[in-house]
Amino acid sequence: MKSFNAFVGQSLKHFISVGSLVPSSRYLAKRIVKGIKSPVVLELGPGTGVFTREILRVLPKDGILISIESNEIFVKYLENQIKDKRLRLYKGNALHLKKFLKENGLEKVDCIVSGLPIGNFSKEDKQRILKEISESLDEGGTYIQFEYFLAGIMAVKKVFPKISLDFELLNFPPAFVMRCKKSKK
Ligand SMILES: C[S@@+](CC[C@H](N)C(=O)[O-])C[C@H]1O[C@@H](n2cnc3c(N)ncnc32)[C@H](O)[C@@H]1O
Repeated sequence: MKSFNAFVGQSLKHFISVGSLVPSSRYLAKRIVKGIKSPVVLELGPGTGVFTREILRVLPKDGILISIESNEIFVKYLENQIKDKRLRLYKGNALHLKKFLKENGLEKVDCIVSGLPIGNFSKEDKQRILKEISESLDEGGTYIQFEYFLAGIMAVKKVFPKISLDFELLNFPPAFVMRCKKSKK
């Protein structure tokens, strides 16, 4: 099945958790990975893998990409489509991301890429996921999140006061990219 069809099918069934009608464009994916140099990346909400593929493209040969996706159809799709020994794909809830890091012998990572529709999360889940992300990032590490309407930016700003904003027009809909630094104390 084509990535587009798989995505739209799930989006129509579970619009709130999928969060968009169509997968992100490769232009947005390229903007998301711009500047990533970390050998270990954690990805939340890979969907049909448009960011996953771009992250793998910039990851070193011996790098590790841990991706957590809650939708079973997307997980099966990714298992079939992406054969790369650097990818460690899990079906699960991103709210439990520390558990997945621990399974890989990790406590923190230097880079977290999120495709999660955080604007659709309840206030509690938004606070929870941002806390988990912040606690799982190395000092000076980067959290990258995209959003269409910046619905979650105020919540993100409370945890990550230093955000740099970028914008990709060639996406449906056009999207903002937030790059958040965990400040060194
Ligand atoms: C907006 S889509 C983005 C998909 C893909 N990254 C892209 O840009 O095309 C959001 C993705 O996050 C997943 N998702 C939503 N809530 C999740 C959660 N709590 N844990 C893990 N994945 C989640 C959805 O199933 C969906 O695949």
